[in-house]
Amino acid sequence: MYAIEARFNAVFGEYNPFYHLGDLGFFFFFIMFFSGVYLFLYYEPTVRGSYNQLQYLTRDQWYLGGIMRSLHRYAADAMVVVMALHMLRELVTGRFRGGRWFSWITGVPVLATVYLTGIVGFWMVWDKLGQFIAVRTSEWLDWLPVFASPMARNFLTNTGVTDPLFRLLMIMHIGLPLFLFIFLMLHIKRISRARILPPRALMLGTLSALVLLALVQPTVSQHRANLSVAPNILHLDWFYMFFYPLMQSWSMGAVWAALAAVTALLLVLPWLPGATVEPAAIVNLDYCSGCGLCADDCPYEAIAMQARSDGHPLFLQEASIITDNCVRCGICTGACPSSNPFRRIASEPLHRARALKSGIEMPNHNVEMLRRQVERSLAGDGKAGRILLVGCEHSADIETHAAADVALLRIPCIGMLPPAFIEHALRQGAAGVLLAGCRKGDCYHRFGDAWLRLRLNNERRPMLRRSVDRSRIGFCWASPADQQHLYSALESLYHSLHGRSDNGR
Ligand code: HEM
Ligand code: SF4
Ligand code: SF4
Repeated sequence: MYAIEARFNAVFGEYNPFYHLGDLGFFFFFIMFFSGVYLFLYYEPTVRGSYNQLQYLTRDQWYLGGIMRSLHRYAADAMVVVMALHMLRELVTGRFRGGRWFSWITGVPVLATVYLTGIVGFWMVWDKLGQFIAVRTSEWLDWLPVFASPMARNFLTNTGVTDPLFRLLMIMHIGLPLFLFIFLMLHIKRISRARILPPRALMLGTLSALVLLALVQPTVSQHRANLSVAPNILHLDWFYMFFYPLMQSWSMGAVWAALAAVTALLLVLPWLPGATVEPAAIVNLDYCSGCGLCADDCPYEAIAMQARSDGHPLFLQEASIITDNCVRCGICTGACPSSNPFRRIASEPLHRARALKSGIEMPNHNVEMLRRQVERSLAGDGKAGRILLVGCEHSADIETHAAADVALLRIPCIGMLPPAFIEHALRQGAAGVLLAGCRKGDCYHRFGDAWLRLRLNNERRPMLRRSVDRSRIGFCWASPADQQHLYSALESLYHSLHGRSDNGR
């Protein structure tokens, strides 16, 4: 997957569609909405009118109505494609467990509603494909013992199909997208600053591609539905109808069983054993001033600012963790001004711990541990002058780069590193610090790389002090498949620190 994405990176750069699958999904939804409003103005919900009106748009009004129809269809197909890729991507990268369970679970009704809306849409055209869908779907529904008389009986003859059916289909085709929108809003509820629109260049490029497709290959209806003749050649829309052929070769009960099994699997997936569960972030009230920086930087709405509970005379607010939302990224530690190794612990009041503590930290990666690790790796005989390589758990593997002149520090996300720790490492004797995070635009925890860059550029608090020599800091934005990039970044920092002539490595 990383290899495929790397090829797209080479062509699209920061507009790589793989990094925008969710926002592209929203974009296609909006295209469907606007083109759908236009189609609605012409659609006639009757047995003959439905087919006639769509034919009119395609043939007589091809320059606008036809394009709108094609945009509606192709955006619907594209939505299925980006949704499937988005889902697959979250699955293979493990971004569906822990605090992300909510987005995963709310994705399931999104998936179901997209399919229901699409299938009803194809039915409404009332061509041979609509006929096929009507017959197969009703036979499939009839397998469930819910209808008093079999639904499929309505599709035995042309006279069985009446206008009210098309009014019902139209109401469903308008109502289901409303539910879809509600599910989508729920889907991103626990995601801070969720992107619902792709970058402008990607939107323009995508829309242009759809319009071009609409002109080159306009959407057309198949022959008018006629229930006295069974359709023998069909052009299925495989994005929506891939499971219809199964109804031909399997029993209807088996198709229901497969659907129930897939749904059940999707619904339990986030809780299946497999991933180690780290404890969530914790707040140390003694060190929290209520500044709100952590809440602003948290990518998963897991920090709420609330009224002070300890009656502090100066500070009015405190951070509080919503444990269920927390994905254990540690970005909040990187945001907290008290995650500062230069704080004078010795002069702290006695009731405070004599270890370095931050207002907010990860129990298994607290700032005292970080400080000790940095100091241990740089203090002692022959350790001064090393490069400190700080890597996140999801980027290129730093372990393979251990060497006499390279000290390693692995943290959950590169955004967890408080800027003051970089200065600390340099003062402790590091020749330079190399920061390794995920590929640009693809941070595993959404904002880790972006927040770090802004903090080091003095555009976001907490900032790296201006006096720190930036030329001693290197960056590497790479995936686990880009081991070579990390090697090159290390080489390049090494040479810029020691001069090209030094070939001791
Ligand atoms: C067309 C339908 C869908 C749309 C438009 C959509 C949209 C989105 C958006 C905008 C985000 C936030 C991305 C960000 O800003 O970082 C997101 C996250 C997510 N989606 Fe979807 N989604 C759809 C379907 C699904 C489905 C079917 C599933 C799985 C069943 C799913 C699972 C997830 C998960 C697990 C996340 C959290 C990812 C993370 O935290 O890194 N989505 N989705
Ligand atoms: S570790 Fe911190 S920043 Fe990350 S999700 Fe939890 S509370 Fe938010
Ligand atoms: S960043 Fe630190 S000091 Fe500020 S509110 Fe969060 S925990 Fe408190």
